[in-house]
Amino acid sequence: MSNGTFIVIEGIDGTGKSTQVARLAEWFTAHGREVVVSREPTDGPWGKQLRESAASGRLEPAQELEYFLNDRRQHVAELIAPALAAGKVVILDRYYFSTMAYQGARGFDPAEIRRLNEAFAPLPDLLLILDLDVEAAHGRIGTRGDTANAFEQRETLERCRQIFLSLKDEPFARIIPSNCSIAELAARLQQAVRQAGLAPV
Ligand code: TYD
Repeated sequence: MSNGTFIVIEGIDGTGKSTQVARLAEWFTAHGREVVVSREPTDGPWGKQLRESAASGRLEPAQELEYFLNDRRQHVAELIAPALAAGKVVILDRYYFSTMAYQGARGFDPAEIRRLNEAFAPLPDLLLILDLDVEAAHGRIGTRGDTANAFEQRETLERCRQIFLSLKDEPFARIIPSNCSIAELAARLQQAVRQAGLAPV
C-alpha cells in the first residue's frame, strides 16, 4: 500500500510522546518531507467517546476494546492508508500497541489484540517505544497538572510498561530510554530513525 514512511511513538502516560511527535515532525518537515501527524484515540466519533469515558467512568472492557478497534479502523481507512499511499510521512502518537498494553493490562490477551489489529492495520516501518519507569512517568503527569484518571493508575501503568517492553525483539521496534531532557530524547529518536534507514537526509 505504501510509498510513505510510517512511524509510531508509544509509551506509558508521562513519557513525553506528544512533544516528541511534534519534534520529529518538525525535523522531517525541515528536510522537505510532507508530514501527517495524528493520534489515537482520534478526534473522530469513537475516539471522542473513549476520551469522554476516561473522565466520566470507563466503558466495560469488551466495549472499550471494540471502540478502540472501531476508532482505528476509521483512522486507517480515512487518514493513515491514504497518506502513506500518497508518499507522506505519517507520525502517530499511539497506535495498536497501546491497545495491546492498556487493554492487555485490563485482562485481554495482548497477542490476540495484536492479531485483531493486524487484520486491518498496517505495520509501522518504525515503532519507537519511549521507556520510563512508572514513578518518573507518574511524577511528570503530576507536574503537568493532569488529574490522575482511571487510565493512569500506577499498577496498570506497570503492566502496560511490561507489555510495551515485551515488543523489544520485533525487528521494527526500538526501546528508547526516556529519562533525559526533551532535546536529548529528540536526538535519540532521530538517531533511531537514521539507524532504521528512514532519515529524511
Ligand atoms: P492519551 O494519548 O494519553 O491522550 P491524552 O493526552 O489526551 O490524555 O490517551 C488517552 C488514554 O487512552 C491513555 O491513557 C491510553 C489509552 N489508550 C488505550 O487504553 N488503548 C488504546 O488503544 C489507545 C490508543 C489509548
